[in-house]
Parts: sequence; structure tokens; C-alpha cells
Amino acid sequence: MRFPRQFRWMHVHTLILGAGAAGLMAAAHAGPDTLVVDHARAPGEKIRISGGGRCNFTNMHTSPDRFISQNPHFAKSALSRYTQWDFIALVDAHGIAHHEKTLGQLFCDGSAKQIVQMLLTEAERAGAKIWLDTAIGAVRHDGMFLVTLTRGGRDIDVTADNLILATGGKSIPKMGATDLAYRVAAQFDLPLVTPRPGLVPFTFTDERFKPLAGTALPARVTAQGPGFTEALLFTHRGLSGPAILQASSYWPEGDPITVDLSPAAPLGDILIAAKQTEGRKGLTSVLSRHLPARLVQYLAPDWPTANLADLPDAALRDLGTALHQWQLTPTGTEGYRTAEVTLGGIDTAALNSRTMEAKTVPGLFAIGEAVDVTGWLGGYNFQWAWSSGWAAGTAI
Ligand code: FDA
Repeated sequence: MRFPRQFRWMHVHTLILGAGAAGLMAAAHAGPDTLVVDHARAPGEKIRISGGGRCNFTNMHTSPDRFISQNPHFAKSALSRYTQWDFIALVDAHGIAHHEKTLGQLFCDGSAKQIVQMLLTEAERAGAKIWLDTAIGAVRHDGMFLVTLTRGGRDIDVTADNLILATGGKSIPKMGATDLAYRVAAQFDLPLVTPRPGLVPFTFTDERFKPLAGTALPARVTAQGPGFTEALLFTHRGLSGPAILQASSYWPEGDPITVDLSPAAPLGDILIAAKQTEGRKGLTSVLSRHLPARLVQYLAPDWPTANLADLPDAALRDLGTALHQWQLTPTGTEGYRTAEVTLGGIDTAALNSRTMEAKTVPGLFAIGEAVDVTGWLGGYNFQWAWSSGWAAGTAI
């Protein structure tokens, strides 16, 4: 191949686009002649800020049913060959102390930077080189892959036998997220499952929850798909908290969601029992024992004001049911600006589930969030990055 004179040129066996979670994991396993490139100034930035700076790096309950994909079977191979226990063993081998916070979620006792450093150490040990602050330009394929990079104001053409797409999804553009993986995949005719924001707060344009902003309670939230019992938080713009973020990944735009405001205590039964023992009390005083007082005040204008003794059991039961099945239709979500992940991405139908290699383009791999595999909240997305990165790295 001939190149204009001002260009520099080099060849590597494996070129990895993206020094995030999946790219660094792949670099630790892809062999010594590996170059990882990223436009960010620091590697693994999402790892660094994740989990409030402590990185929820995996989940002990990882299993394929905790992932969303058009093909729910696709993730099984990688997840079973590089498991959460493998990653925990790696973390332990690096002496990184950790703890379970809740629901199998493992966090560093110290800083998320320890996980980034661990991955850098592993990649370095494997012989990989990492170029940061490097812009990725045209990607071509002519027997080999040829990618034009710009680094320190100079263009460098890198040819590679293998090209791994690890530039993630579109979530949080402010942190440097781009659709590069999708564009390169499209260039090679790999199909795309339409990306959309996941693990994202809901918005309501009428600001109806503004008076409740800051109020939190345990709730069970269901869109289409499984229900999630975790914290729900009212915000100025709508609803957030883990229960909402989880449900958002299953939410078809325009659909209502169902919120059970008291998943642990049956409010209808409680009201009927209270009618027997404290019939002179009103609904608000009894319900304030089970729901945040601000929420009760907010909902109370729609309730009868009579004492419990003067209300029929059926009315109490209906009110309980309404509180367990509160139907709300969000206007939308906060979008990629705050979404923790991107749903959809490179269609798994185009990839080999064992190696993550494109079926029609030998040597082209896609891993991590760029692929149409999205985990629940709680360490699952990093586990997918580790498992898919490992699968591609060891296949090379
Ligand atoms: P990732 O986004 O990590 O890396 C992609 C890399 O590609 C980045 O370094 C980026 O700079 C680079 N890049 C992108 N476009 C480029 C371009 N055009 N040119 C050059 N480089 C480019 N998950 C979890 O399991 N536990 C958790 O605690 C959290 N917490 C969390 C908090 C926040 C705020 C966010 C936004 C996300 C999480 N996640 C999470 C999700 C998790 O961070 C995410 O799923 C993984 O980082 C995905 O790993 P990837 O390597 O695929 O992409």
C-alpha cells in the first residue's frame, strides 16, 4: 500500500478502538502486538466515576436473564466462559478490597481508580500499548484493516490484522461517548438494533412531581418486563432512583408504568384493620405510617376526608389497590445526557457469540456496550464488558 509522504505508518496485529472497560479487558488478553487508542485524555473514565467513585464492578448474581438483547441467548457463552467469579479473582489477586453493598452488587472499599489501574497493569503485562488523546479518523479494509489516527497534530496510518470495536454506546456525550462503533459497523454492513437510552430517569413535562422533589421511598416499578423493587426518588423533572432506572430499560415510549408505592405492606388490609381499632382516625394519619408524609399530603386531596369508621371496606380496599397500582405515563426520559447505558447497538445476529467476531468480516470484533447486550443496574454492564472483552481478546 502507498501513502502520502506526510503520513506516518505502522502495523499491529490487533488494534482496539476504545480504552474503556471492554477495550482494556480485551487488551489484557489479545497478545503483545496490540495497540489501544482512545480520544480521551485518561483511560476507563466511566469506570473511574462509576458507583459514586467506588465502581460497582460486577454482580454476584450475574446470569443471562439480567441482560436485555434482541437475542437473549447471545450473552450466555461469554458470560459463562469469563464469569463474575473470574473477575472477582482478578480483583482479589490485585489486592483490591471490596464489599457487597446490596443485591449482589460488589463495590471497591477504596477508589474505582484501583480497577482502572488493575486493567492498565494487566494490559501492560500482556504487552499492549495505549495511545490516549488520539482521534480516530477513517477506517478502511483492504485485506487488512487500515485506520487513520491523529495524535499530537500528526496523522498516523495504522494497519491491523484484527480490529476490535470497543468505543461503547452513546450515553453521556459530555464524557466523550460517540456513535463511532455503530458507524464503523454500518460501514461493514453489520446491522444495528436501534440504540436508545437505558437506566435513565423519567421526565414529565407538567412538572407534577416538583412539590415532591427529594422524596424517596421503596417501591416496585414495572414497565413492560420484570418489576423492580428498589428505591424510587421524586425529582423536579420526574422520577428517578434505582427502581425507575431499571424499569426504564424495559419502557416502550408512550406506555404507562405501574408503581407499587408499598410493596412490603398491603395498604388495603392495613386500612381495614385500622378501621376496627382506630376508626376515628382519617386516611392520612394511618397512611403516613407507611408512606412518606409529603407523598401522603400530595395524594390526599384525591381521598375521602371521612374517618375510617365512616368509609366502606370496599372503598378502603380500592384506595389500597390504587396505591399499589399507581399508573403513570412518563413524557420521556432524560436521554443520553444522563443515561447510564445505551440499549440496542450492533446486532448480535452479526456476531459469533463465542468470539465476538463479525460473521461476515474475519478479524473484526465488537465488544462491550457497543453491542446489543445491556445489563440491569448493579454491576452487570461492567461484567458484560469484562466477559465480552475477554472473549474477543482470547480469540485472537
Ligand atoms: P466505555 O464507555 O467504558 O468505553 C468506551 C471508550 O471509547 C471510552 O474511553 C471513550 O472515550 C472511547 N471513545 C468513544 N468514542 C470514541 C471515538 N470516536 N474516538 C476515540 N475514542 C472513543 N456499569 C456497571 O456495571 N456498574 C456501575 O457502577 C456503573 N456505573 C456507571 C455510572 C455512570 C455515570 C455511567 C455513565 C455508566 C455506568 N455503568 C456502570 C455502565 C458502564 O460504565 C458501561 O456499561 C461500560 O463502561 C461499557 O464499557 P465499554 O468499554 O463498552 O464502553
